[in-house]
Amino acid sequence: MNHFDYVSGTLHAEGVPVAEIAAKVGTPFYCYSTATLARHYTVFAEALALAGLDATICFALKANPNIAVVRTLADLGAGADVVSEGELRQALAAGVPAERIVFSGVGKTRRELELAVAKGIMQINVESEPELELLSQVAAERGVVMPIALRVNPDVDAGTHAKITTGKKENKFGIEWTRAHEVYKRARALPGVDPVAIACHIGSQLTETEPFRQAFLRVRDLVAILRADGIGIRRLDLGGGLGVPYEDETPPLPAAYAEVIKATLGDLGCRIVLEPGRLLVGNAGILVSRVVYMKEGATRTFAIVDAAMNDLMRPALYEAYHAIEPVVQAAADAPVEPVDVVGPVCETGDTFAKQRPLPPLKAGDLVAFRTAGAYGAAMSSTYNSRPLVPEVLVKGDRFAVVRARPTYEEMLALESLPEWLE
Ligand code: LLP
Repeated sequence: MNHFDYVSGTLHAEGVPVAEIAAKVGTPFYCYSTATLARHYTVFAEALALAGLDATICFALKANPNIAVVRTLADLGAGADVVSEGELRQALAAGVPAERIVFSGVGKTRRELELAVAKGIMQINVESEPELELLSQVAAERGVVMPIALRVNPDVDAGTHAKITTGKKENKFGIEWTRAHEVYKRARALPGVDPVAIACHIGSQLTETEPFRQAFLRVRDLVAILRADGIGIRRLDLGGGLGVPYEDETPPLPAAYAEVIKATLGDLGCRIVLEPGRLLVGNAGILVSRVVYMKEGATRTFAIVDAAMNDLMRPALYEAYHAIEPVVQAAADAPVEPVDVVGPVCETGDTFAKQRPLPPLKAGDLVAFRTAGAYGAAMSSTYNSRPLVPEVLVKGDRFAVVRARPTYEEMLALESLPEWLE
């Protein structure tokens, strides 16, 4: 469910014609819908509440760290899951209270740990023994006791794309679950850290509940082991990972996911923390681009658009599918022909879709890439010295640029010649 629909034959973001934004902002750009963000958050929160779960939803900023998006979710009650100093600063700038922020990630630096401790965030999810030792030192130096979770790796196959599965023992994430008890004992003995929680995240874009159930049962076992040893676990951070439909997937509904949490962990008296990213923002964003040329190749037709792999990396990196639609709706009886939709970057990988059945396109037409709100702008770069793609937020019949397209002057100003080349 989203709020990008055709009205009188032209694609609208809520009450705003997408073409109107394109005329003002130029292409390519990302466009987010406030109503869709709110709907996804509300459906998720209600499903958890209906299952009787005492849950905090910490939006995973990595999916879309734009501070206007984060503020929209924070106003609805969301906290934040951050993985870097930059994301921590964005969460705080967006108005997320420190006591609703968790900090995940395998490579937090001393500087990042210092900032998290100084800001008094809710919890740091520790992913290794060396990190535990360093955090203990950093917090103790400041006379602070930091609430922590150990992120455990449950060795469960999430059944997703190899590049986004995280909960197998060969992945770099978390502490091997069979070693977890030992490491919790170490944490209990150290100054500056209080092991109050267990964290677990097994992968992204999951389309079944079974891997979650297996992982949560392992978390349950660990709670029992730790409690028997006097380590009072009172919070469970179950990560994110619930998938969204890109093409014809049918991921579990939030209610089914909530039921799995309730059935496996609901009776433990723990506060539940969740870190959804894609689920909240995926369908709330589109990437809008303009066709530059139609080109007849030897064996196929190419639609060369002005967005490229640097703006939306998912197809090049994961062979990900994004629905592509003309902004001006094609006539119902328009012929549909297979087209390769490609960007201008000098790589064959800069291909958004191969042999995609599309109605006739011509130079100048606008197209929208669907389900681009998660890991779209967040993963964009300036490859081929292309300016970072701008972002627009729509609310009702209003829209605002919430990240501007940098000018070439601004881009060049970051570079300089060393004195020996001047
Ligand atoms: N928590 C942790 C510790 C994570 O590593 C992730 C995602 C999340 C939460 C949020 O997961 P989500 O609810 O969004 O599935 N760039 C890839 C996805 C990478 C996900 C990395 N971790 C993509 O475009 O598909």
